[in-house]
Amino acid sequence: MMLFEPSASLINDDIEKEQTSSYKAWLQYSPVKKEYIDKSRLFLEEVALTGLSEIRTSALNEISQALFSMTGTQPKIVLHGGDKAGIIFATKDEKEILPDGFSTDELRPEGYILHQEHNRMYVVGYCDKGLLYGVFHLLRLIQMEKNVSGLHLAESPVNQLRMINQWDNSDNSVERGYAGESIFYKDLGFSRNLVRIKDYARLLASTGINAISINNVNVHQNETDFVTEKFLPNVKKVASIFRAYGIKTFLSANYASPITTGDLDTADPLDEDVRKWWRNTAERIYDYIPDFGGVVVKADSENRPGPFTYNRNHADGANMLGEAFEPFGGIVIWRCFVYNCKQDWRDRETDRARAAYDHFMPIDGDFRENVVLQIKNGPMDFQVREPVSPLIGGLQRTNQMIEFQIAQEYTGQQRHLCYLIPQWKEVLNFDTYAKGKGSQVKDIVSGSLISQTHCGIAAVSNIGNDANWTGHTLAQANLYGYGRLTWNPDLTTEQITEEAVRLTFGNDREVVETVSEMLMGSWKTYEKYTSPLGVGWMIAPNHHYGPDIEGYEFSAWGTYHYSNRDGTGVNRTQKSGTGFTGQYLSPNYEIYESLKSCPDELVLFFHHVPYSHKLKSGDTVIQHIYNTHFEGVEEVEAVLAGWNRLQDKVDSYRFHHVQNRLEEQLAHSKEWRDVINTYFYRKSGVEDVKGRKIYS
Ligand code: GCU
Repeated sequence: MMLFEPSASLINDDIEKEQTSSYKAWLQYSPVKKEYIDKSRLFLEEVALTGLSEIRTSALNEISQALFSMTGTQPKIVLHGGDKAGIIFATKDEKEILPDGFSTDELRPEGYILHQEHNRMYVVGYCDKGLLYGVFHLLRLIQMEKNVSGLHLAESPVNQLRMINQWDNSDNSVERGYAGESIFYKDLGFSRNLVRIKDYARLLASTGINAISINNVNVHQNETDFVTEKFLPNVKKVASIFRAYGIKTFLSANYASPITTGDLDTADPLDEDVRKWWRNTAERIYDYIPDFGGVVVKADSENRPGPFTYNRNHADGANMLGEAFEPFGGIVIWRCFVYNCKQDWRDRETDRARAAYDHFMPIDGDFRENVVLQIKNGPMDFQVREPVSPLIGGLQRTNQMIEFQIAQEYTGQQRHLCYLIPQWKEVLNFDTYAKGKGSQVKDIVSGSLISQTHCGIAAVSNIGNDANWTGHTLAQANLYGYGRLTWNPDLTTEQITEEAVRLTFGNDREVVETVSEMLMGSWKTYEKYTSPLGVGWMIAPNHHYGPDIEGYEFSAWGTYHYSNRDGTGVNRTQKSGTGFTGQYLSPNYEIYESLKSCPDELVLFFHHVPYSHKLKSGDTVIQHIYNTHFEGVEEVEAVLAGWNRLQDKVDSYRFHHVQNRLEEQLAHSKEWRDVINTYFYRKSGVEDVKGRKIYS
């Protein structure tokens, strides 16, 4: 077996030389300073270990190429033995190569210890996966030129499922993809560029991701066959690439597969033939992929088939699949994004925000142990600002995971800078009061508050075959930060951001400070120049890029803001509105119900208010709209100016690429500003107290 391969990224023919820096993302492995190497006693003579495995081979390849690239030294790989100054790979039971009395008590599943003693650095995993994560951590420390002498740390993941959902289609497209075409598929088959998939696995594993579903939740005709002999050999190849990086492969499954494949004329979950069809299907999948993760299912959602057709509920549908996958240890991830997408805009009773809770709360506790419900972070759909879905924490007897969207569908589509870690942190820290005060979302999805057999965090990926993976080079930080948050939701935004920037752009202080600042403020900046105060959907229909304030106002999608000459916003109160506030536990219910206590940033999500309504900030709603839209553009100007100062400190390819995107964002933010300001000025007739230019 070849223990050392040249960096995969360097042999990927698709990538032009000048683009490699952006392709490497946060795995640059740039040379570290000589003083750092001299001072930090890195012990690079050898890497010693007692045995090999697929994952260990990945870890060895990674550490070999990374150390060589960062320090110029190529450690020798020593199997069985090793007596020089070096790095020791071990798992918890390999006591013979650990120092006398070394305690592994701190190790938890998938965790690791990094320990430096005498002339050795020990990387000790709970299992091989933990070992691999430990290697990535060590490499991170070295790349950031952190002192590792005398180091001792133990880490283990907080969440069991740390998952990525690809929305890739086999026709090369990516649903809501903003970074080129799929890296997985080509012309209705699977891509042959396995190097690219392997590099993706490296990127994901380095942040702690351990699960991936590789096709779109909207499973079309061709992808329905992914669970058949036609495509399983290909799925198997992809799964083995991910397996070597500790990542389990899942497929999105078409609920109506028994029909779509032409085998049966029903998909009724209680029909014996249907049950048998799925049992056989599961068996076939596991013949190919013995450690297959399971299936992700979007059913009865946005015109996808589901159990409702047969007058069955979601528990019937999910449990039928659960039963089929159970003998093989597979799980069923059932999405809760279920709502009426054929609403009449005249109907003021139906409220899409209510839908997930109304569908799933009555069947809390009815799901099998290997079924987990996947709930979007907000009750609507990945808007720049939404409250937390009341279903999270509402459910008390059902496995649950939260779903984020790294892809920036509604947040600038990776053309605008919008760093989402601060948003996700707010969501994860939200107190649901599910078990009284202190019942934060992060503790629910980690299973520490409500006991669950499967739980965690999933997110829609933001990558494609663009050289830099993510369209906007700075959007790489969203993927990096997402992975780190799934590992440990208590990491601070500052810490994650600093890591992302230093690993991606190096340790220069000015670069680190400037780029960190650019990232940290960008979500709120985007919010300022787009739809205000949590109201949502003022975006162009279908493609969701750019302003179109009434684009959805008379549509069937249930996404309205009801602006008129007197006011704006959606009344979701119990007292006089749709009653959505009633889905929250006390005191969140009271906080949102009362206009007095409702936080400013969600006022228009929960209330319809006059333009003259005074916010807690002291501004009226209309003045807030004007102010934030002017400020948003000014902030983008400042971000661009900051980036321009880094011209000599960032390689030319990445510098110009980001510069172009920021210039586009600036022009586009002005469009948003003027369209929104003019719209509300025309509706309300209220002048800007600061007399700025608003087109009449
Ligand atoms: C959004 C998105 C769709 C996607 C859906 C989902 O509505 O626009 O493209 O399919 O979410 O999450 O299922």
